[in-house]
Formats: sequence, C-alpha cells, structure tokens
Amino acid sequence: MTSNPRILLAGNWKMNHGPKATREFLSRLDLPKKDGAQARIYVPCLSLPEALAAVEERRLPVQIGAQNIHYERSGAFTGEISGPMLSEIGIHQVLIGHSERRQYFAETNESILLKTRSALEQGFEVLLCIGELLSERESGRTETVLREQLVRVLQNEECKAHFGGRLHLAYEPVWAIGTGVVATPEQAEQAHSFIRSLLASSLGESKARATKILYGGSVTPANFKELLSRPGIDGGLVGGASLKPDSFRALWDLI
Ligand code: 13P
Repeated sequence: MTSNPRILLAGNWKMNHGPKATREFLSRLDLPKKDGAQARIYVPCLSLPEALAAVEERRLPVQIGAQNIHYERSGAFTGEISGPMLSEIGIHQVLIGHSERRQYFAETNESILLKTRSALEQGFEVLLCIGELLSERESGRTETVLREQLVRVLQNEECKAHFGGRLHLAYEPVWAIGTGVVATPEQAEQAHSFIRSLLASSLGESKARATKILYGGSVTPANFKELLSRPGIDGGLVGGASLKPDSFRALWDLI
C-alpha cells in the first residue's frame, strides 16, 4: 500500500475509554501497516498499560501516548503523572498543551514550556498543541496568538534542538474542536504556512520542513482527505472520530 511517509494520524481520546473499553477498541481495530505513515493514540493515563499490552499482543502498528506529563520528575504534586512513571511502563509519546488543558486546568504558555522542555530532556517525543479561540480569530489576532504560543519554545535551546526530531506541532483552532465546524482547507493551510514560517525564521528552513504540523478540530473521514491534500498539513489530531475502531480505520485508509 502506498502512503505518504510524512503523515501522522493521531487520536486523542481525551477522558474517554477506560481500560476495559480500551481493550475492546484495540481488539476490534484492524489496521494494516503502511510504509512510513504512523498511527498513534493518546489514551487516558489509567488505560495506558492496557493499551500497550493490547498493541503488543496484536502487533498493531499504533503508538500509544499519554495526554499529559508533569514537568517535575517526582514530588508533592497530588494527582499528577511524571515522566519517569510513564517511561517505566514503556510510554515514549506525550501530548502537551492541548487547549482543554489550557482552558480547564490553567495551563499557560509558561507551564507548557516547562513541560515541553522537561519531556524532551527525559527522551519523550512531544506533540505540542497550539490554536486560537474564536474571539481571537474574529478580532484578527490568530497569528499573534500562534506566535505567543510558540515564542517561548522557539527561544528555548532544549526545545529548539528537538524541533523536527522529537518535537512536532498540532494546530487546533479551539472553535473547531468538538463543534463539527472544521476549519476550511484554506484556513488550515494558511495557519500551517504561518506556523512553518515562524519555525523557519527561528530554526531555519530544514528544521521547519522536518517538523510535522498536524491539523486538529472536527476531523472526520468525510473531510480528512481534503485537508491532507493541502501542502503543509502533515496529518490529523482527532478527537471524536478516533473513538470508534471503524472510523479510526476509515481515517487511516485515507492516508
Ligand atoms: P474533535 O476531533 O473531537 O473535534 O477533537 C479535536 C481535538 O481536540 C483533538 O485533540
């Protein structure tokens, strides 16, 4: 099967699918290998061991990742999960800075920098999420907000070193998340191109090109193909449509 080696299909299950549902999903998922293209699912913390075991058992071509990580390695941080804990069970992928973490858990560009830097130092591969609110888009501030969300990581030496290697991005306009209102391919392409120009001016063309930028926000099998056809869109970060094995497979078939 031919496929685009740049493309990453990443599911973000958010607070869905405990261990039992995770096992059920992965026992029903039928995913043929594709040269170079990658599939990944960020599952709830409690379901990580179950997911790892099921993927290994069925030899599924799916990486399993965590949805969050604390920036300290241990200590008095009730309710949090550290890098060493994730590493201990065999997790190498983490999602950082999702807009729901920013909105409901008070994560800021500053704390997101701490997490990103720490995760990279500990050897994780990081998918860092950015994206503007509807009010920000409507007031013409999209590019300003994207720049603000990236400036700290682009100034940090540890992060800079890993762009295009273990650090990649997801552009998720907040107004498109869970709303059924997907960004138009033009809107997505424009934002991705702006983000890549920011990367290029700080890191140079080659690192900018090597950095994957995924689009997220109401991606479904009905709109994924057109988004992927646009230059600069290197895959999808998918919430709702990643929750059922059939629709995850349908997205995979479009790559
Ligand atoms: P939906 O695909 O459900 O809109 O969610 C997108 C998202 O937030 C993925 O991280």
